[in-house]
Amino acid sequence: PRTQNHEFVIQATPVKRLCKTQNSITVNGQLPGPTLEVNNGDTLVIKVTNKARYNVTIHWHGIRQMRTGWADGPEFVTQCPIRPGGSYTYRFTIQGQEGTLWWHAHSSWLRATVYGALIIHPKQGDSYPFPKPKRETTLLLGEWWNANPIDVVREATRTGAAPNVSDAYTINGQPGDLYKCSSKDTVIVPIDSGETNLLRIINAALNQQLFFTVANHKLTVVGADASYTKPFTTTTLMLGPGQTTDVLITGDQPPSRYYMAARAYFSAQNAAFDNTTTTAILEYKSAPCSNCKNGSSTKPVMPPLPAYNDTNTSSAFTTSFRSPRKVEVPTEIDENLFFTVGLGLNNCPKNFPSSRCQGPNGTRFTASMNNVSFVLPNNISILQAYQQNIPGVVTSDFPANPPRQFDYTGNVSQSLWQPNSGTKGYPLKYGSRVQVVLQDTSIVTPENHPIHLHGYDFYVLAEGFGNFNAKTDTKKFNLVDPPMRNTVAVPVNGWAVIRFVADNPGAWIMHCHLDVHINWGLAMVFLVDNGVGKLQSIESPPSDLPLC
Ligand code: C2O
Repeated sequence: PRTQNHEFVIQATPVKRLCKTQNSITVNGQLPGPTLEVNNGDTLVIKVTNKARYNVTIHWHGIRQMRTGWADGPEFVTQCPIRPGGSYTYRFTIQGQEGTLWWHAHSSWLRATVYGALIIHPKQGDSYPFPKPKRETTLLLGEWWNANPIDVVREATRTGAAPNVSDAYTINGQPGDLYKCSSKDTVIVPIDSGETNLLRIINAALNQQLFFTVANHKLTVVGADASYTKPFTTTTLMLGPGQTTDVLITGDQPPSRYYMAARAYFSAQNAAFDNTTTTAILEYKSAPCSNCKNGSSTKPVMPPLPAYNDTNTSSAFTTSFRSPRKVEVPTEIDENLFFTVGLGLNNCPKNFPSSRCQGPNGTRFTASMNNVSFVLPNNISILQAYQQNIPGVVTSDFPANPPRQFDYTGNVSQSLWQPNSGTKGYPLKYGSRVQVVLQDTSIVTPENHPIHLHGYDFYVLAEGFGNFNAKTDTKKFNLVDPPMRNTVAVPVNGWAVIRFVADNPGAWIMHCHLDVHINWGLAMVFLVDNGVGKLQSIESPPSDLPLC
């Protein structure tokens, strides 16, 4: 194993997209930011220096961070932000994970432009559990706003309304040639006839689940969220923000140019969304586009994409995942948790100006788990407060169940629409075996929620539609070869069940990876002790940990 050192400088950089130049916050002036490529077992040391005018932190999405919670990154959860002019060095070791992950800012909406890939190759000398691909290409799917994303979310927070939707989706930072002023920068993905290549696809979009497909080519899924999967073949992928999918693609079509395309999978009713399509071009090396310049070459072949609300295609895909072999799923559970995930509305206080209550009917949007709308502290991180036993920051009373049972996916009575705010954690004993049923609610609107847990991978035992029924749905649990993920797309008007062993002490946030839902409170934290009293005996914070 080796140690890699990197420097990330957060800075404002002029970036031209969709015919306009905007000062964007980037890492080292790049959009997307630098790709980190390591081997399983390596240690990463990344010094982040903040030369921008916003507070920032970086999160290494999906990295287990075994006992290195101080390096996890979510602002006010495991650290205070790196202030303008400050710096912080993240140190962590890759332990047992292989495949595709990524990193992103975990402050406000900075991750719109502060993100990049984190590729984990097998241990040196080890190989993939599939034939070695000829080429590897990473495709980061993103979202672009013509306005400054920080201003977009600030405005939404001020008015209580839904934020403006993005102006484009992107592949490796480029909208692609269906958008104006974008065709010459369209990403080209090379392939040769007969060769099989690996595509690492990452959904780094802020607020949108995406379908992804390639014209005329089949995709064989071999991994997701840095865990290998039993290979299966499909034409269309669906990725929630935070999720990654590794696929093999073979150059078995007539040499030509084929579009790779992504656009929204959006399950909410009557809500605005960005309905545009981003493209890259799969180009056979024997059919390069040298002819395109003089107009003699034809347009790439465009693939059909599912309709934006095609839940059948999405769920056919997400339920196809299996682990490559039988795995050790905990069969007994110590913590049987049931969390509702959904939206809500807060009535506006009487003295609020109406300019600050622009949600439906003079309300403000909110979101919650088990009716608790999560609020971040602002003068200390939750992990610091937990490790140092500082009272009054986070309470250990996050409910194991919703305050009362109701028909979650039916016509929910308005009295249940208004959650309570709080900074509540759920305490977990070190080593306990945890099951969480994640149940979408139809409060305001039913919607897919990509739920991400920090510090852990978990098994997804089952998912389904309607209200989770402990009697009948337990029989559907896959306890043999369920897939391992760090982000699960809880289906619209449905549920998903996850299991993990609490073997990593610390304060770990679980949240919806649609950023606007974090703003509205769709999050909670697990507080995991170290088996010896509280956290006092785990590593103390590094000396350069930013304080508030
Ligand atoms: Cu990728 Cu808490 O996030």
